[in-house]
Amino acid sequence: MDKSLVLIKPDAIQRGLAGEIISRLENRGLKLVAMKMIQMDVALAQKHYAIHKGKAFFEELVNFITSSPIIAVVLQGENAIQIIRKTMGDTDPAKALPGTIRGDLGIDIGYNLIHGSDSQANAVKEIDLFFSADEIHDYCKDVDKWIS
Ligand code: RTP
Ligand code: MG
Repeated sequence: MDKSLVLIKPDAIQRGLAGEIISRLENRGLKLVAMKMIQMDVALAQKHYAIHKGKAFFEELVNFITSSPIIAVVLQGENAIQIIRKTMGDTDPAKALPGTIRGDLGIDIGYNLIHGSDSQANAVKEIDLFFSADEIHDYCKDVDKWIS
């Protein structure tokens, strides 16, 4: 079972879309195993987006992600990373397909509502940045027995 880190970004919180976005992911059958609301500081933002350091949009990205609270979520499920990325849609909402979160709710690449881990290795690193082991819940839902 994969786990992925999802961030409900500041624009989604400001626009009152947190519930809608989390609901879309839950509705796919992914299990919520951790959740917290925090305001990211610059140090955490620079670590989380370290791979983009040096790119033209890096400073703007760090400013944006630290501008207002976010909700950090860990979701678990078979192929969770790939399923979440597909449900999010293309990084640029202008290119994201209708039916995806970014394609239905976004318009600007800098304000694209949601982050989702893009690989197993990055998911492990990112979850560790936001959550301690005791904040990640291991529990069974009745439906788990139908799909595992
Ligand atoms: P994220 O990491 O936030 O989940 O988004 P992503 O994987 O779809 O996109 P990524 O390539 O990792 O880029 C991180 C964030 O940087 C902003 N960005 N701006 N102006 C630009 O060309 C540009 N490219 C990327 C986006 O806000 C993107 O979510
Ligand atoms: Mg990314």
